[in-house]
Amino acid sequence: MTPHILEVRTRSAHVSRILIAPGLLASIGAAIADVCPDASRLVVVSSPTVWRLHGDAVRRGLSLDDRDDDAPVLVTDGEKAKTMATMGKVHDALVARGVDRKAVLVAVGGGVIGDLAGFAAASYLRGIRLVHVPTTVVAQTDSAIGGKVGVNHRLGKNLLGAFHQPALVAVDPTVLTTLSRRELRAGLYEVVKYGVIASAPLFARCVETMDALLDGSPAALLPVITECCAIKADVVTRDEREDGLRRILNFGHTIGHALEAVTNYRLLRHGEAVAYGMKAASAIAVARGAWSESDHAALVRLLDHMGPLPAIAGLDVGDILAATRRDKKVVAGTLHFVLPTRIGETTIATDVDEAQVRHGLSAIGIGPPR
Ligand SMILES: NC(=O)c1ccc[n+]([C@@H]2O[C@H](COP(=O)([O-])OP(=O)(O)OC[C@H]3O[C@@H](n4cnc5c(N)ncnc54)[C@H](O)[C@@H]3O)[C@@H](O)[C@H]2O)c1
Ligand SMILES: [Zn+2]
Repeated sequence: MTPHILEVRTRSAHVSRILIAPGLLASIGAAIADVCPDASRLVVVSSPTVWRLHGDAVRRGLSLDDRDDDAPVLVTDGEKAKTMATMGKVHDALVARGVDRKAVLVAVGGGVIGDLAGFAAASYLRGIRLVHVPTTVVAQTDSAIGGKVGVNHRLGKNLLGAFHQPALVAVDPTVLTTLSRRELRAGLYEVVKYGVIASAPLFARCVETMDALLDGSPAALLPVITECCAIKADVVTRDEREDGLRRILNFGHTIGHALEAVTNYRLLRHGEAVAYGMKAASAIAVARGAWSESDHAALVRLLDHMGPLPAIAGLDVGDILAATRRDKKVVAGTLHFVLPTRIGETTIATDVDEAQVRHGLSAIGIGPPR
């Protein structure tokens, strides 16, 4: 199958190529050689989980030998492992192997491996080239595109990082068949997000094909992943550094991040928190009269159809309000709320007050009904 080809062009004149095709892993070596013809070597960074499932396919696609030098650098993934310490292990391996400036780091995994290995590539020798081979829905539609790399600090998520655009993002939807149902669904909430913020046809396709998407059907996933990549590539091309437009990607994230924080990142997958955040933001938008009841109902119906979310009813409103104020997205003390205006269109509101946030929270069962 001929891959879909997209590009991210940034002010720095850097071009990232995004290739999307089922079975792409089989020809990943050629795809990398195309964009990095002078690569001195490839260093694969992955996690034990991902490598056990997909390592053979990647190894074949890259024509890697069994030599030690070609062995992947395997580090633990999952949010708790997204630390300077784990990234240090990647640096250690790069130094120990004498990896030079012309090498290309190939990150094979979900968003955690992509962000962490990407930051290692950005910092090692002041930057070596990076290829993303994303293996989760979140990574294929979001984290691998746009150049944000980084790790968490003890006191906050993604506080340490850099912009480092990949030379190539190689998206093969067939790798998603091994994801757990929960992980797949969590990623699909962000796909719904793309529909709401930027594409009514994508939202309609989600409604029509959600059961097949939840079953992990590559045929159903391919068109929606391609559209999400196109939206993200377009947004990042127009606003690499999140000075404006890129903020629309944060729909559902103000309250979503707060929910993740107050539950210590344990109860909810990120996408699940965003699903709650979207419902709350949608209720706020209705209350402000800027988004219709029927669009709100369509969004809630789709999210509810996707399955039950972990229960959050007992959470404290005050804790959540405090957490929204600590969000990284707060600029000069003003909370930026991404609010939909109609399916496929959003605005950024800087005047959402506490009463409105409380109203949004009550819509997801937190605090007294309003
Ligand atoms: N850089 C960005 O712009 C950006 C955007 C969105 C999210 N992120 C980051 O992405 C991270 C979340 O990414 P994620 O949801 O992919 O989490 P993750 O990387 O932790 O992966 C989730 C789980 O799925 C497993 N896994 C990965 N691929 C698999 C596969 N094909 N089959 C079976 N299991 C597989 C992993 O081992 C892990 O246990 C967060 O840290 C978030 O901050 C970054
Ligand atoms: Zn997100």
